[in-house]
Amino acid sequence: MQISESKTHDIIIIGAGLAGLSAGLEALENDENADVAIISKVHPVRSHSGAAQGGINAAIRFDDSWKGHQYDTVKGSWFLADQDAVRVLTSEAKDAIARLDKYGALFTRNEDGTLAQRAFGGQSRNRTCFVADKTGHNLLHTLFEQAVKRNINIYWEWFVTKIVIEDGVFKGIIAFDLVKGEFYFIRGKTLVIATGGAGRVFGQSSNALINTGDGVGLAYRAGLPIEDMEFFQIHPTGLLNGILITEGARGEGGHLINKDGERFMKNYAPKYMELGPRDLVARSIHLEIREGRGINDEYVHLDLRHLGEEKITNRLPQIREIAIHFAGVDPVKEPIPIRPTVHYTMGGIDVNVDAESEIPGIFCAGECSCVSVHGANRLGGNSLLETVVFGVRAGKSALDYSKENKLHEYSDESLSTELKRLTSLLDRTKGERAAPIREDMEKTMINSFGIFRNEKLMQEGAEKVMELRERFENVIIDDKGKTYNLDLVRVLELENMLDVAHICAIGAIPRKESRGAHFREDYPEMDNDNFFKHSIVKRDGNGEAKLSYKDVTVEDIEPLSEIKY
Ligand code: FUM
Repeated sequence: MQISESKTHDIIIIGAGLAGLSAGLEALENDENADVAIISKVHPVRSHSGAAQGGINAAIRFDDSWKGHQYDTVKGSWFLADQDAVRVLTSEAKDAIARLDKYGALFTRNEDGTLAQRAFGGQSRNRTCFVADKTGHNLLHTLFEQAVKRNINIYWEWFVTKIVIEDGVFKGIIAFDLVKGEFYFIRGKTLVIATGGAGRVFGQSSNALINTGDGVGLAYRAGLPIEDMEFFQIHPTGLLNGILITEGARGEGGHLINKDGERFMKNYAPKYMELGPRDLVARSIHLEIREGRGINDEYVHLDLRHLGEEKITNRLPQIREIAIHFAGVDPVKEPIPIRPTVHYTMGGIDVNVDAESEIPGIFCAGECSCVSVHGANRLGGNSLLETVVFGVRAGKSALDYSKENKLHEYSDESLSTELKRLTSLLDRTKGERAAPIREDMEKTMINSFGIFRNEKLMQEGAEKVMELRERFENVIIDDKGKTYNLDLVRVLELENMLDVAHICAIGAIPRKESRGAHFREDYPEMDNDNFFKHSIVKRDGNGEAKLSYKDVTVEDIEPLSEIKY
């Protein structure tokens, strides 16, 4: 086994979802000769951006403004989002939609040709643009087409094992080609990490199997700071197997009903009802079930029947198909059984509004990053927006950096250390398989860091995660072959997920308050006096995780101490 030097590229992008593709396209928009390479563990159109259903937010109506969008986002974040970042997100949203439209996105339109916008949770206006209920799918295909048209180098089915940094300088990445089973060092001047979320740490979720926190794991082990990783969003409406049922279904007028036929959201968010912010609606559903008002003690109903067949077929065609095929109910005739499902990673690699990380030349965008525009709770429709606004910014920053810097020399030591690590992993014959470790991690995370948290559960969870990390030291890989060694991929993904779980626990336990997705039954109030701050977890020189905090950026929105919907 060896690590060979492969091609060099000025700009290396890890991840071919909406953030990664946006970064690559932006570099080429500014310089058609830019040398860009995108590395992805799956074919680009299998990236998880394609699973986004309900839409993408932008204040484009005559009666709306980006300031309104900014306020709703900051309030929805429980005031933890950085207001400079939210200003960028919301004020650049209109241009982002125009760019997607120009690229050929098939946005659903009103009869007069203007873009249709639906209601989404926690927002004071209808500002979610959409492509029926397949928004991410359409946008992903649109950007992929543009990438193909521009001949971007895409290495798909390549898995990145290490970011090579020497003396604080980015040198390249080590990755393996799944088809050939060969390991390569790809030298680069600059890197954009755009690998998506980590929802699979919790097992069943709305996330694709590929959402294993690879970017966060790689960055953490490379010494980059990770921000607010204790905040994982639980989406209110998933099928019992975790598949997402879009918030757009409630945006189009769907009702949430308990076993007594009651629209119970009137007891939790009387003004916003089903369109309260996600954390609140998810907790309300969970409480209804826990307190015996669920159906079969397991779920509540999402009722769309009053919308009528025509609206369901036009606006929510995929939801109808999903409900028929995966829940056995046709929403035209019957309500859909739903319960909350793990959905989104609010924390991530700490970056500023130009997507710059702490290490010069390394930029990050999308769900693996924390800029921070979502704080403690993301508003639906803001994630697609984040990918295209900050993906573009990352692409521009990376291009500028690549023009001002040269390729750096590297030492063989970084390569030989990684070779030794991978060889010992592949050669090990005695130990434990990855699957039981993963299963225990998933159970631990959902039990200890799920929708309701408390000190005892989290302490137990943190200890269990430490134990799992020790068990991982002896993990074995049965498949010793080269071609499509998915056994090796699963093990390396597990390593990333265990890092994510560890960082989540380190941020969550000392946060003795409730804020958005971090809801503690032992500290049910938000505490701005002590916890109006971002958590930062970073590895020290001995490989130990160290927790620190950084201030939230406040511009002109005064944080409230209590939030009502
Ligand atoms: O419910 C949804 O369609 C999800 C949208 C989002 O997470 O932004």
